[in-house]
Amino acid sequence: MPLDVAAPLLGRPVTISGLGTYLPETVVTNDDLSRVLDTSDDWIRQRTGIRQRRIAPPGMSSSDLGIPAAIAALADAGLRPEQVDLVITATISPDQIMPATASRIAYEAGCVNAGAFDVLTGCTGFVYGLAAAAGAVAAGLYDNVLVVGAEVISRIIDQSDRSTAILFGDGAGAALVSPLESSSRKSESEGGPRGILGFDVGNDGAGGCCLSVPAGGSRMPASHETVDKHLHFMRMNGAEVYRFATRVVAVSAGRVLERCRMKVGDIDLFVPHQANIRIIDSAAAKLGLSPEKVYTNLQRYGNTSCASIPLCLSEARAEGRLKSGDLALLMGFGAGLTWGACLIEWSDG
Ligand code: UT7
Repeated sequence: MPLDVAAPLLGRPVTISGLGTYLPETVVTNDDLSRVLDTSDDWIRQRTGIRQRRIAPPGMSSSDLGIPAAIAALADAGLRPEQVDLVITATISPDQIMPATASRIAYEAGCVNAGAFDVLTGCTGFVYGLAAAAGAVAAGLYDNVLVVGAEVISRIIDQSDRSTAILFGDGAGAALVSPLESSSRKSESEGGPRGILGFDVGNDGAGGCCLSVPAGGSRMPASHETVDKHLHFMRMNGAEVYRFATRVVAVSAGRVLERCRMKVGDIDLFVPHQANIRIIDSAAAKLGLSPEKVYTNLQRYGNTSCASIPLCLSEARAEGRLKSGDLALLMGFGAGLTWGACLIEWSDG
């Protein structure tokens, strides 16, 4: 890895110093869904790659999943909760409109000195949260920022709509962002990994109607009519989102690579948002990445929206597929329409 490259993320070097996850126990297979919907295991596997997903039990909210993930990330980093300066929760299924889901996660995780806010940028939320966290830590505004992707998407899905009900799953993943030098890892000056190198984030509001929960906000307040018309559930133009995703991933990846003066050949692991295996395969092919450099777990969890990337990072690290010094490309895309790419030289203790 060339070490004379100027890091485009200005300020002090920052890294992901801890990861944590939490998944609800209940597994729902494609066959389970085909008993209540006009669908089949064959169709779902061939069109999406998904085989099963986890579903949270009644009464469990996104923060209930995010809290154990946050606590696990702190334990992984060896950090006390009172040392956290900010908790950012990325979600498309917040506990409610206010207060922020992050407020409850911070409180219950014991982050008594932390501010807290939510990022509501569709499935791209984790990468947006990571960008905000990395920028703030690099600038010295904060030392430790917890970014928690937490989702109980099953609550905002119309379970009678086969075009969305088969895709999504519940889960949470958290990443602690800290200065590189404060972690126990070998620092950049000692020739170690450089941590988070840079981002490309974007938004195309013209595609807002392709993926949304139409009612429940100030634009279409809740009413009997909105409930009757199922307007509090996700509406998705799958074909449009598919076209957008297959186009934007390669473009955004190219931009972040250029910004960080790296090449596709430098990438050791591609960690895309887990929306559809066909989107992932098409993006990897456009980028020229071989399949062994692509991490997927959507087979087991479906699309967990803001939780998908931290869930992948945690599993990839546990499986030895993400090692110290590896260059990882994280790529999110979703409602907005938004997208976000991040390059990180992974650092492990
Ligand atoms: O996190 C980001 C958000 N979401 C995404 O990234 C999703 C992006 N889009 C997609 O992944 C795909 O568009 C879907 C998986 C949603 C749909 O796959 P597709 O290959 O685009 O299928 P389609 O919508 O073109 O439908 C093909 C056929 C249709 O039947 P006809 O008209 O050909 O007779 C559908 O009615 O498949 C039918 N169909 C289904 N059949 C069985 C649609 N959903 C299902 C289903 N089971 N669940």
